[in-house]
Order: sequence, then C-alpha cells, then structure tokens
Amino acid sequence: MTDDNRFIIDPATRDLHGDDDRLRAAGPLVPVTAEGVHTWAATRYSTLLAVLTHPDLSRELRYWKDRDSAPPGTAITRIVTDTSMLNAEGDEHRRLRAPLTAAFTPRRLKRLRPRIEELTAGLIDRLAAMPPDQPVDMRKEFAYPLPRDVISDMIGIPAAHQERLHELTDAVAQVGGSLDDTPDLRQALHVLLGQIIDERRDSPGEDLITDLITLREQDGGRLSNEELFATIELLFIAGHVTTVNLITNAIGALLHVPDQVELLRVGKCPYSAAVEETLRWDSPIAYFPMRYAQRDVEIDGVRVRAGEPVLACFASAGRDPDQYGEDAHLFDLTDPPATHLSFGHGPHFCLGAPLARLEAEVALSALFDAFPEIAPAVPAEELRPLDTLLGNSTRTMPVLLGP
Ligand code: HEM
Repeated sequence: MTDDNRFIIDPATRDLHGDDDRLRAAGPLVPVTAEGVHTWAATRYSTLLAVLTHPDLSRELRYWKDRDSAPPGTAITRIVTDTSMLNAEGDEHRRLRAPLTAAFTPRRLKRLRPRIEELTAGLIDRLAAMPPDQPVDMRKEFAYPLPRDVISDMIGIPAAHQERLHELTDAVAQVGGSLDDTPDLRQALHVLLGQIIDERRDSPGEDLITDLITLREQDGGRLSNEELFATIELLFIAGHVTTVNLITNAIGALLHVPDQVELLRVGKCPYSAAVEETLRWDSPIAYFPMRYAQRDVEIDGVRVRAGEPVLACFASAGRDPDQYGEDAHLFDLTDPPATHLSFGHGPHFCLGAPLARLEAEVALSALFDAFPEIAPAVPAEELRPLDTLLGNSTRTMPVLLGP
C-alpha cells in the first residue's frame, strides 16, 4: 500500500496470485500503482468482462488524461504508444485488423499444422540428443524456440535474417521475456524488420508481410508505412512471448501438480483441456494495459472519471472464485473452464488465439509422448517468476527428460 491507500503492483517483488486475491477482495475496481502509473485495476471476472466490452472505455491513448506525465520507459506506457490495431478503436481498428483475419482462420491454420508439427519434431530430436540425467530448461530449449520459429515463418522472415533475429529474440528472452522491457533490442528489431519489408517489396513471397504490402499498394495506401511496421511488430511480439509463457506454464503445471499428466497419458482428458486449464489457472498475461474512460462511467458501482485508466488483470480473473468456484486455485484437468478471459473479449479479442492453442497442443502432446519419464528437476517453490508487469511465467523450467 502507498500513503494514498493504493495497492502497489511491483513486478520485482510481487506475489501474483496472492496480490490478486487481495485485490479481488478489495472491490470490483481497485486503485493501484503499477510501474508508477495510477490506474484502476479490474481483477474480478465479471468486472473485467464489463471493462473489455464497455463502449466508453477505449484503448485510444488520447483519452488518458495523465498520458504526458506517465513515467517514460516502462512496459505499461511503452505498449500503449504504437499505432497498431491494439491501440485503435471503431472503424480505424477494423481497418487495421481486417487484412489479417484471413491469415488466422481455422482453415488457414489447418494448413499450418504440419509445419508446426515438423518444427516441434525438430526440437524434440534436439532434446532427445541431450544427456537424459542432466537438467534441461524447457523454457529456453522448447517453449521459446517453437513460437518464435512459427511466427517467423508466417510473417516471412527470410532465412538470411533468421540468425540475427534469433540473436535479438534470444537476448530478449534472457532479460525476462518481454521486448517491452528492452528498448535497445526493440530498436534493433525495428531496423531489421524495416529491412525485411524493403526486401519483400522487391521479391514477394507467400507470407504475411507480402500480403500486407500487396494490400497496401493495391488499395492505394490503406496501411501507412508506420502502420505496416507496427502491425508486423505487434504480430511478432504478441505471437511470440505470450505463447512461450503458455507452453512453459502448461509444462510446469503438468509436472508439478500431482496426477494431472496421467490423465492425458491414459486418454482421460484431451491435450486441449490442458491448454484451456493452463490459460485460466496461470494466464500467460498477468496485467495488460489499459482502457481509458472517454467520459464518466460507473462500473459495478464504482465511478471512473473521464480520462482515468483501467488496467485489465487477466491472471486474476482466471482465479476468481465467483466465476470458477471455491476450487478456482486448483489446476484440475477433469474440470477445464467452459470459458475464460485470457485471450481477452470483444473487439480486441486475441487475433492469434487459434494459433496459440494449436501450437501449445502440438507442443505438449509431442513432448509428453516423446518423454514418458519426464520429471521436474527442482521443486515448484524454487522456480523464479518473470520480472515483468505483463508476463506471467517462470524464468526457467528445469526438467529431467529421463530415458
Ligand atoms: C490481442 C492474449 C497469442 C496476436 C490479445 C489480447 C489478449 C491476448 C489478452 C487482448 C488485448 C486487449 O483486449 O486489449 C494472448 C495470449 C496468447 C496470445 C495469452 C498466447 C497464449 C497471440 C498470437 C498472436 C497474437 C500467437 C499472433 C500471431 C494478437 C493481436 C492482438 C492480440 C494482433 C490485438 C488484437 C486487436 O487489438 O484487435 N492477445 N495472445 N496473440 N493478440 Fe494475442
């Protein structure tokens, strides 16, 4: 708590689920300070749902009255400053999102499945060649490279640039898993993507960058240069770090919560249940910036004044006993959630949700099939959480792969 009775959300010291329990108990919307920013926090499932669909709560930065005095350089402020669909509303939002929806339909993704399986099999072969009695960090060796390689393929990163891209993203992963925490790396990625866009103009391929460039040129500039860049960068970041957390968290839950993995192995529960239960129980996103009130609004009896921000607390909504019952803190594959908010809701619902689900399902089933004796290398209490406001995962996930 601060002097003015605000909860402080500090990624360096937080106890995520404990903090969230306290916030949910304190009220439907609670004043918090996150990375120095004063905001309301929406932590209960029903309140978060109301916030994500409220017509007067906007993702557009211009409605935030304190935007100029917010501390610079923090994740919470940086992520709101780009010109991607994430920060647009209404017609503008539809214009930026529409060109991409076709790439993420279940039909297009079905075609992508063999490629995801192939990339997964390559990683499993590499794991199989490692000494079976030495700890292997599954975040680094498995959860991290798979989504990186899938999204690089989809976007159309040419082979010649893969190595540089991997260097950049590896460095990002080492500092905690978020590009938003690493402005220098983000700038380097910016330069690299700019180069790739220029190359695709000269030699088009069958990928998202080419789709977006062609659309732009055919339609007389429907996406500006800056928008094109912001879109690709958003896909790269959103399509990568969050899925790393999902796969890591699922492996952690399956290995550390007794009896669960057995249910998958004997076919009592499908792998999709493990993915959905992980999304609810250990949401890959802890706190995700913010909506701004366009006018005074009342949500669950709390008055939010025009210009004030509201922070979406996805991990907390997944543990809300009012939604999921007294067992909300249990990871239970026999009772996967009918619904959760971990991919958001409403107009900004995660574009990549079907892709993330597919990647996680393919990854988990391949891993647990290939290594029937896989076991944790350290107790759950020794796993250290990521030091970032947005992400919810552990920095490492050491396992013993077994014979
Ligand atoms: C939006 C979560 C994976 C692309 C969102 C939002 C959430 C989310 C909560 C909504 C933000 C809001 O309401 O303001 C996740 C999680 C993922 C994941 C938990 C993995 C487990 C992906 C992937 C891609 C992707 C794989 C793309 C390849 C996007 C995009 C948006 C978005 C483009 C913005 C949509 C819009 O503003 O209209 N994601 N995401 N995400 N996500 Fe994901």
